[in-house]
Amino acid sequence: MSRAKIVAGNWKMNKDYEEGLSLASEIIPMVESEASTGVHAILFPPFVHLHAIASLVKGKNHIYVGGQDCSMHTSGAYTGEVSASMLRSAGASHVLVGHSERRQYYGESSADGALKIAQALAAGLIPVYCVGETKDERLGGQYEEIIARQLQEGLSALSEAQMAHVVIAYEPVWAIGTGLTASPEQAQEVHAMIRGWLRNHFSAQVANHTSILYGGSVNAGNASALFAMEDIDGGLVGGASLKSRDFTDIVKANR
Ligand code: 13P
Repeated sequence: MSRAKIVAGNWKMNKDYEEGLSLASEIIPMVESEASTGVHAILFPPFVHLHAIASLVKGKNHIYVGGQDCSMHTSGAYTGEVSASMLRSAGASHVLVGHSERRQYYGESSADGALKIAQALAAGLIPVYCVGETKDERLGGQYEEIIARQLQEGLSALSEAQMAHVVIAYEPVWAIGTGLTASPEQAQEVHAMIRGWLRNHFSAQVANHTSILYGGSVNAGNASALFAMEDIDGGLVGGASLKSRDFTDIVKANR
C-alpha cells in the first residue's frame, strides 16, 4: 500500500500578510529539520499570501502551498473569484474544495465541488475534496448516507486516472473549531467507509492509493492516535496550524 501521508494547515481567514509570511518562515525550517521526509506538509494560507509563501517553499522537499478555494469557472467576468490556473501560476500545487465553511456560509453544493475539482485537475492542481456531516446528521444516524452522497456528487464523474490526483478530507462539521474531536474509532469508521466507496465506484487500486485526511480539532495531543488508524492518512488542521510548534508536532505525529 503506497499512499501519501499528509498534514495540511488550513489557515482560514487568519493572519495578515506580514504575520502569514512570518508564520510560514517559522514553519518551513521546523518541518524541514524535524519531520520525517515521508510526510507531505501543505500550507493553505489566504490567497493574498500565496505567491510569497510559494516562493519560500520552492525547492523544499515535501512542503507545498495551496489555495483554500477556487472558482468553478475558467476565466472571465466573475468578480472576486480566483481561478485554479491563477493559483497554479502563483505557485500553488493543491486547492481545498467543498470545505464545510464554504458549504455552510456560501451555499456551495457538492455539484459545485465537482466543477471546482474539474477546474483544479485541468490546471494541474491536486484538489483536497472535503466531506462531512453536521451534528444533526450524525445524531440522526444519517452520516454514512450524507457522506456517500457528497462523494457521489463530487467525484463520480472523474476517471480512475484523475482520481490518482485527488485527496479526500473527512471533516465532521460538529468537530470543526469546537474542540470536539471525533474519536480515532469514529473517524476510522468513516474513513473505511470512504475507502469502501472508492473501491466500489472506481477500483481497489484507487481505494488503496487515495489519501484520506481527518479534520476537526486535530491538535498535537490527539494527532498520533488519529494517524495510527489504518485508513487515516493524515490531517487537515485549522486552529492548531496557526502555531508553528503545534503544526510541526502534528506533522511529526504522522509517521
Ligand atoms: P479546526 O482544526 O480548527 O477544528 O478546523 C478544522 C478545519 O476546518 C480544517 O479545514
